[in-house]
Amino acid sequence: MSNRRNVTPNDLSAFWMPFTANRQFKKAPRMMVAAKDMHYTTSDGRKVLDGTAGLWCVNAGHGRPRIVKAIAEQAAEMDYAPAFQMGHPKAFELANALVSIAPQGLNHVLYTNSGSESVETALKMALAYHRVKGDGSRFRLIGRERGYHGVNFGGISVGGIVTNRKMFGTLLTGVDHMPHTHTPGKNQFTRGEREEGGDLATELERIVTLHDASTIAAVIVEPVAGSTGVLIPPKGYLQKLRDITRKHGILLIFDEVITGFGRVGTPFAADYFGVTPDIMVTAKGLTNGTIPMGAVLVTSEIHDAFMQGPEHVIEFMHGYTYSGNPVASAAGLATLETYKEEGLLTRGAELASYWEDALHSLKGLPHVIDIRNLGLIGAVELEPIAGSPTERAFSAFVKAFEQGILIRTTGDIIAMSPPLIITKAQIDELIGTLGGILKTLE
Ligand SMILES: Cc1ncc(COP(=O)(O)O)c(C=O)c1O
Repeated sequence: MSNRRNVTPNDLSAFWMPFTANRQFKKAPRMMVAAKDMHYTTSDGRKVLDGTAGLWCVNAGHGRPRIVKAIAEQAAEMDYAPAFQMGHPKAFELANALVSIAPQGLNHVLYTNSGSESVETALKMALAYHRVKGDGSRFRLIGRERGYHGVNFGGISVGGIVTNRKMFGTLLTGVDHMPHTHTPGKNQFTRGEREEGGDLATELERIVTLHDASTIAAVIVEPVAGSTGVLIPPKGYLQKLRDITRKHGILLIFDEVITGFGRVGTPFAADYFGVTPDIMVTAKGLTNGTIPMGAVLVTSEIHDAFMQGPEHVIEFMHGYTYSGNPVASAAGLATLETYKEEGLLTRGAELASYWEDALHSLKGLPHVIDIRNLGLIGAVELEPIAGSPTERAFSAFVKAFEQGILIRTTGDIIAMSPPLIITKAQIDELIGTLGGILKTLE
């Protein structure tokens, strides 16, 4: 203990912050110290309206009493139980509750601690599924340009955001990418899904022809690409992916880490688009952002393929120390109850047209080159400053924080995804404040 240094709570140097410009942040920190319902409180005592549900995760708003109580009670009753070869009731209850709101056919749940781990679990599951079926030559994974599937090696391999990939060597082999669905110069300011572009899905046929279907295990996409700046799929696109994957015996994985739990006005985006994947990846909204947890849902066909051979043998060699952690499970159960009691999994549908009108009222403001929306997701794309991409949107983000609204930026795209409890007056406040800021941008 003698060599322990005194670190004051205000010393910002030790924490190397994630996805943050550390030196810039530490010169002018933006600190949150409390949160309730639709608002954060900053360290200087200001209220900030949450236009992003934290990081797309606090779907029921902050500090919800049922969830807070469930976490406290579970931590006191049983903090942890071994996850392997042991169980506890709430993990099973939560799995049942999840299956009951999931698209029909997704009947089994594997737990993780994050979206990134859910992605890895899904990719490994896809490879292992073909293998247990005696089809081990299916080793390829197909992702999409501009896709975001977290930050682990599998996720960045199938993901398509160059800045997240280029530093990290050769990544997984046997991966290919479909083109993204963004068509700048065409379809700007489309409300919801655009009519044109569904044919982009046939690019998958080209990739299948190139590699042969017998080598391809799975295709993974976000139904609505979020982190890359909100790309809404063209009409018919996801159904085409479903048709092509089914035709060739390829598994379809939907990464619903941000689209899950009511974000697009239905429990999952799979419901909105009427397309059911074989594997669905979730996290974030599962526990309303309170305790890290993810869940991967799979069909009975996949599950049952593993349930063979001697019963004492572990069927799927995968799992985490905290898979189905009791406190996380309690948080998940209380979150799903809150969503159900308040109708939050479909509230986005009631607010969607109000949200859409509010967002599109920003058309015509300086630098705005596109606006996109679906459910309670919205994006405002700005013309980048020549030679200094990202700077314009980031300055909007900083001004927004100073003026009491939280927005998010990727590149020069402002993305918003408020908690599903937002009121119309708060939508007006969020968009009105943003509009005022856009008028002042260099
Ligand atoms: C679609 C998608 N997949 C995976 C992830 C990774 O989730 P996490 O940050 O919890 O690992 C994210 C996070 O934003 C996401 O948007």
